[in-house]
Amino acid sequence: MPLQWDQEKYTTGHAHIDEQHYELFDGLNSLLIFLKDSANIESHEEQEKAVELINFLGEYAVNHFQDEEEMFAQCKHPLKAVNEEAHKRFVAKYLEYKKELTAGAITRGSLIKLHIFLQSWLVKHILQVDTSLRDYVVQEEAGQADFTKKQGVFVRFLSLFQKKKLAA
Ligand SMILES: [Fe+2]
Repeated sequence: MPLQWDQEKYTTGHAHIDEQHYELFDGLNSLLIFLKDSANIESHEEQEKAVELINFLGEYAVNHFQDEEEMFAQCKHPLKAVNEEAHKRFVAKYLEYKKELTAGAITRGSLIKLHIFLQSWLVKHILQVDTSLRDYVVQEEAGQADFTKKQGVFVRFLSLFQKKKLAA
């Protein structure tokens, strides 16, 4: 099931962090779009596209964790260490999946398995840890963001990849 952003449910009270979470939702949904659109996942092109998407998701998540950890530090959040530890465990698990996934040919089944892990971890982590940032909002940061109106980075990534493929 694709993830749908719900501002009330997922907001951390920090527009920048929310926007990154929103983009990660979009990234996971892009993985579903890729699975749906992929006619021949065994082909070289689609294998390459899957690897690029997985790498981009991982890189985006790692960059986001850095920003979020800085925010926890700035807010002197008591769950700072808990959050950092959870991020570390996630990255280790993600790398394990990635290694397993890219050791041979990427299959539909292995991508679905990765998607299930990423989605369940992200939603649980946002709800259990990240949303507790709401209690530590830096005043000038408060407010509703309208990032849901913008085109997401993962959508742009998929279309750029498409253009690259057409130009090749
Ligand atoms: Fe986090």
